[in-house]
Amino acid sequence: MDYLTVNKAAWDKRTKIHVGSKFYDIEGFLKGKSSLQEIELCGLNVKGKSLLHLQCHFGLDTLSWAREGADVTGIDLSSAAIEQAQDLAKQIEAEAKFICTDLYNTPERVSRQFDIVFTSYGAIAWLPDLDRWAKVVSDCLKAGGQFYMVEFHPLEALLDGYSYFAQQEPDVDEEGTYTENCDGEINTVMSWPHPISEVLNALMKAGLELKAYNEFDFSPYDAFAGLQEESITNSAGELSTRYFLEHKQQRAPLTYSVSAIKSG
Ligand SMILES: C[S@@+](CC[C@H](N)C(=O)[O-])C[C@H]1O[C@@H](n2cnc3c(N)ncnc32)[C@H](O)[C@@H]1O
Repeated sequence: MDYLTVNKAAWDKRTKIHVGSKFYDIEGFLKGKSSLQEIELCGLNVKGKSLLHLQCHFGLDTLSWAREGADVTGIDLSSAAIEQAQDLAKQIEAEAKFICTDLYNTPERVSRQFDIVFTSYGAIAWLPDLDRWAKVVSDCLKAGGQFYMVEFHPLEALLDGYSYFAQQEPDVDEEGTYTENCDGEINTVMSWPHPISEVLNALMKAGLELKAYNEFDFSPYDAFAGLQEESITNSAGELSTRYFLEHKQQRAPLTYSVSAIKSG
């Protein structure tokens, strides 16, 4: 079976589990809580801008950006996720567009360009070809528009026994999902490792100018084995939980962000 069929089936099943999880906390979201994390909230100003969210899952972050004042569109491969996103948009009466598509078909499906293209946490590993991904990003941005991503650091995958460097063949895993209510449900998934050099080179090759690249010694999500928890007061003065990983008594980089502008 091809990777799109395999991964769509897995993400359709995962979505049904995720909507009932504490991890995604839909109840809190419906009461007004943002699902966005300190890294992207500090890195991106979306007020009054059009924003395309690539691989938006079931739309919590997309709709949280709408609450921050963006005119939002989200795309995702999973039809279950897109249906759930549309339902949530209705419930909070948000103006938002959600489209079910393979990422590589996004430019044809959205047929417009945006001020901001955004993607986050656990997205690019599902894509075999980052040059094609970066071309999608560039095609969907207006001239002068901003691309912003925040991702899990590939070093974590290396410490977990996966390749750090890019490879042609996917990793094929039989695994449960990352929410606390996974309950033994196992799916086949196909993913690819992408070192940060591959990400940055692909974006530059597609005509984007890098403005900032940052690495962080924490993850806002308890998404990997062996993470330790700490509470901190973030730069907005709010209490937030961070998760960190020690390797030989040193903290490992767990997340990174990239900001880039499409040349005019
Ligand atoms: C870990 S989630 C994204 C994380 C997001 N930050 C969140 O937690 O809400 C990865 C998403 O990528 C989507 N996806 C996987 N392969 C894709 C593809 N080829 N095109 C579009 N979306 C894809 C999945 O359906 C899933 O919703």
